[in-house]
Amino acid sequence: MTGYFVVFEGGEGAGKSTQEALLADALRVRGLTVVQTREPGGTPAGEAIRRVVLSPEFAGLDVRAEALLFAAARGEHADKVIRPALDRGDVVICDRYLDSSVAYQGFARGLGPKRIRDLSLWATQELVPDLTIVLDIDPVEGLGRFEERDRLEAEPMEYHRQVRAAFLALAEEDPHRYLVLHAHEDREEIAEAILERVLQGIDGS
Ligand code: TYD
Repeated sequence: MTGYFVVFEGGEGAGKSTQEALLADALRVRGLTVVQTREPGGTPAGEAIRRVVLSPEFAGLDVRAEALLFAAARGEHADKVIRPALDRGDVVICDRYLDSSVAYQGFARGLGPKRIRDLSLWATQELVPDLTIVLDIDPVEGLGRFEERDRLEAEPMEYHRQVRAAFLALAEEDPHRYLVLHAHEDREEIAEAILERVLQGIDGS
């Protein structure tokens, strides 16, 4: 594979979509082909799964069923969108990926980070990002930005605290594959730091 795979992770309200758009624009200006996508979703089947996992209609969804649905959406996404784009040599910018499952289902839901990681690795045939950008935010601040909450955003604050700690722990384990930025910093400064690191990564890959 010749492309470059960047994932944005973080809690709710961290400003991921803004930073993803800024990065995509900056890379396109430099002549790179960028595919912007998101999880759960990114394919017709993935978007259908997204409606199920986020809908308040399924408030009591079994946690294992939830984990399998995220993994199923991811498998389809890797097969139909991400891997083909990387094979073409494109840059893929993805809103959430495997670490969201590790943080939300593995840690916060207590299903076990290793088991959940292995499930996603199986689903994606071991497709992992070249770089994961963690936009870190205090969940009290992040969730305060929403008036209406979907099924997962409505989880108790402790759940979101565990998610935050999980992302930071994952990043600490493997600094070469992660960049952690604090969401309260200046938007332009965050964007510059991300671009610099991504361009370094693309040059080195
Ligand atoms: P979304 O509205 O895309 O949230 P955000 O804008 O914060 O990315 O909803 C995705 C939700 O699904 C979010 O609460 C995180 C959760 N999620 C998981 O629990 N596991 C996963 O594997 C993924 C990809 C997302």
